[in-house]
Amino acid sequence: MSQEQEFLSRLASAHSQALEGLQSIAVQLEAGASGDDESINASKLTQEFNVWKERYVGKKAPVASLKKELGLLDPASRRHAGAELNRVRDELLDRAQELGERLVSARLGTLQSSSRIDMTELALDSFRGHIHLITQTRDELEDVFIGMGYSIQEGPEVETDWYNFEALNIPPDHPARGMFDTFYLKESVRGTQDGDRPSSSSSNKLLLRTHTSPVQIHTMSEYKPPIYMVAPGKVYRRDTPDARHIPIFNQIEGLVVDKNITFADLAGTIESFTTKYFGQDIHSRLRPAFFPFTEPSAEFEITCAICSGSGCRTCSGTGWIELGGCGMVDPNVFEHVGIDPEVWSGFAFGFGIDRCAQMRHSLVDMRVLLANDVRFLEQF
Ligand code: PHE
Repeated sequence: MSQEQEFLSRLASAHSQALEGLQSIAVQLEAGASGDDESINASKLTQEFNVWKERYVGKKAPVASLKKELGLLDPASRRHAGAELNRVRDELLDRAQELGERLVSARLGTLQSSSRIDMTELALDSFRGHIHLITQTRDELEDVFIGMGYSIQEGPEVETDWYNFEALNIPPDHPARGMFDTFYLKESVRGTQDGDRPSSSSSNKLLLRTHTSPVQIHTMSEYKPPIYMVAPGKVYRRDTPDARHIPIFNQIEGLVVDKNITFADLAGTIESFTTKYFGQDIHSRLRPAFFPFTEPSAEFEITCAICSGSGCRTCSGTGWIELGGCGMVDPNVFEHVGIDPEVWSGFAFGFGIDRCAQMRHSLVDMRVLLANDVRFLEQF
């Protein structure tokens, strides 16, 4: 069996097990409702339903762990398998939502028909939390890239100077370090962490990563090309919070390494991501910029979603909002991780997840994302 077939058959069996579980709850609910089986009550079924949810649509569900395994498939199969995975997950979520609603009305029905109604106890559910807007945005972005054949990678938030800067072609004292206001840790790592690279005391210094680009280095050190990956995660900069900046924010990094990759592939990828995530009315444009780890480099901007491009205060009247940076992987970076730049080429991009949420939901001030005010959060 090919790897893809094996993946799909595991997905199919997780799918049918999940449906079976759901079906059994639905059948019991029917039996209880028609009076065939008096012992069935809606709150017991709700408990069973919650166990089902935890098992099949929760963080540890087979579908969630299969998502992590997508990266092991080759890029062509990954696109198909990723789309199939999204389809199964959406179907399970839809069905769960539907059954959940039926259970709530069944519980309401039982309450109303019982003679001992305690009028002070009207609330059916206590206040329920839900996934934070940033995490929702991150999940949606991951799904878009999985649909395009990318795998998901992660890297540590505490990094060494080498991963965050040096391997990315930013040696000590390079003026580009000024782009990042870095939080350093007092500790540093002793010895080398990477077999064949020279160790200097400065490259072992620990810091909070200022961008997700070090995950490019981890990924290229660990996997051989072709590579198609995105890496979402938290990053840290010593910025004073204002309407457009927060010192802890989230980025999603993208990296493609393959043969004959060109700037046109990069531009096309960014445009297709933009329309998939923001919709047909939002476009992207690239403007020349500088990053030490890409050459040539560009900044990418999207149509301002708040004014649909006509110009407003948020976009300073330009109609465009900067989302992130991108470019062709610099040959020096390839050399640091032992990839031959004569054979392979690639592009990278990195952009703000918080900024995507801001554009998608027209948030005037980004600080609401950190304030944990329930009145804001419950709207999403
Ligand atoms: N890491 C850059 C930043 O945080 C963005 C970037 C990523 C630029 C990848 C080019 C390529 O500003």
